[in-house]
Amino acid sequence: MYIRGPLILLSLLLLVPCVRAQLITNTEARKTISLNGQWQVIIDPYESGFYNYRYQPSDNGYFKNAKPKNKSELIEYDFDKSETLKVPGDWNTQSDQLFFYEGTVWYKKSFDYQRKPNTRLFVYFGGANYFADVYLNGEKLGQHEGGFTPFNFEITNRVKDTDNFLIVKVDNKRRRDAVPTLMTDWWNYGGITREVKLIETPATFVNDYVVQLQKGSRDRVTGWVKLNGERLNQKIHVRIPEAGISRLFTTNASGTAMIEFTADLKLWSPENPKLYDVFIEAETDQVREQIGFRSLETRGTDILLNGQPIFLRGVCIHEEAPLRGGRAYSREDAVTLLSWAKELGANFVRLAHYPHNEFMVREADRMGIMVWSEIPVYWTIEWENPNTLKNARNQLQEVIARDKNRAAVVIWSVANETPLSDARLTFLKDLIAYARQLDPTRLLSAAMERHYENPTTQMIDDPLGEFLDVLGCNEYVGWYDGLPEKADGLEWKSKYQKPLVMSEFGGDALFGHHGDPLTRWTEEYQENIYQHQISMLKKISFLRGTSPWILTDFRSPRRPLPGIQDYWNRKGLISDRGEKKKAFYVLQSWYKELREKP
Ligand code: GCU
Repeated sequence: MYIRGPLILLSLLLLVPCVRAQLITNTEARKTISLNGQWQVIIDPYESGFYNYRYQPSDNGYFKNAKPKNKSELIEYDFDKSETLKVPGDWNTQSDQLFFYEGTVWYKKSFDYQRKPNTRLFVYFGGANYFADVYLNGEKLGQHEGGFTPFNFEITNRVKDTDNFLIVKVDNKRRRDAVPTLMTDWWNYGGITREVKLIETPATFVNDYVVQLQKGSRDRVTGWVKLNGERLNQKIHVRIPEAGISRLFTTNASGTAMIEFTADLKLWSPENPKLYDVFIEAETDQVREQIGFRSLETRGTDILLNGQPIFLRGVCIHEEAPLRGGRAYSREDAVTLLSWAKELGANFVRLAHYPHNEFMVREADRMGIMVWSEIPVYWTIEWENPNTLKNARNQLQEVIARDKNRAAVVIWSVANETPLSDARLTFLKDLIAYARQLDPTRLLSAAMERHYENPTTQMIDDPLGEFLDVLGCNEYVGWYDGLPEKADGLEWKSKYQKPLVMSEFGGDALFGHHGDPLTRWTEEYQENIYQHQISMLKKISFLRGTSPWILTDFRSPRRPLPGIQDYWNRKGLISDRGEKKKAFYVLQSWYKELREKP
């Protein structure tokens, strides 16, 4: 948790109690007013809109949106004369000035709103990278840390009929104690990167719910519904008309109704991504949700979907907008990326290394693509820092809150390539236990460490494996580790009787750059890697999935090689212009073979 000087905290607690509300689930089912579009912005590298010259938080910062009342008054900023940026959208790809920018940008959006009786109002952010301070009409609503999960604030008693001004200070500065920490291999796109909307609800509304099959069951539905408001004691009707389900439940004093019933349902699978309309009806509110029902479990080294062993034919995806670059945010972006994965023959995607926008998981639900969802506990996190753990737990809680009703999401991943240590193990065990508490129905994994037991044997005995359901391992045999053919002689061993997903492998190639199979950066070299990888992977008896690195080229500040990388990681099977490289077809034909194998 980013402690900004006791002074702020004190003033915040004393002056304006934070109105960060419980996350509203399923905003698609709500009456909403979009605040997307052009927002006025002030680029503030020295945070002079927040701190005074003594570097103390100012009560009179840019969040006041002050205007000179007379010719002599000194005001040194003016949102209404400032440039604009599009929301949703990262600032880096909207202005050359901001391409490498890491710091603070202030956003302002004005709006009118006709208040209605017995109605509450929330402002909802799909995501803002990295740290957001949010104000309405000059008053602090609260703050949010983490660039990839949603948050909302209640503004019922703060909104006016006209001339409301919503101001957000977004700071994407990297910090050692943050999640992710200082070093990553993706572009630190800053800004209000996902949609912003006003959400209207009844005075007492259905705030949150989960309706899923019990772990390992194919007909026992369990879950709960949580009301928010004064009338907490209500009857709750859960209906699934298509399955002839209509059940009545009652909330307890805290507004929660536990749900349990048996149902004969068509189960969700990649081959048949069946979604049911589920109606949750309270006396004061009702929501409609589209939910798929499927059971998930492991048995030895098998992963079972609806009781059947499956192989996860996957690919990794970064949230890089297809064809235009920048942070992806729309349904169209999601459909394009997932359609390319489908074209590859994938039934699974690893959304790396952070929660992607909600359109990705909802389209995966519709398209029948299983999802590995991950929080950015990446490389060398500050394991011993309790605030870092709290932050990671919070991001985990928020992504599970948002996506817990998505049948497509099958794996929660708590880490990527984190170095062995006791502090790391303690940290990750805490996250795993927390995830199981929040959601006992899904599988837990991580991209763990592995090592050479001898020159031709890779051993998976990372102590983390004991606490996971599915083992994940990244390896770059043929790129960072030797030449492509090195994979031929490699054997894989594991200390655990658990399924393995090879969560990364591959190499860089610039589309259209050709040469012999041993010339780096050529499509032929990448193709060569995939050919040798596939023959190695086929020999691993406990392998139950693969997600090579990566579907498309993506921007990274760690990749400057001129004429080849130019700040793009070129390990994509598809270029940043949507062009398929030779390796794409090598993987496509293996996945076809797997699909057709009985
Ligand atoms: C790592 C890492 C990725 C990175 C990739 C690469 O394994 O997990 O985030 O982009 O390797 O080096 O290309």
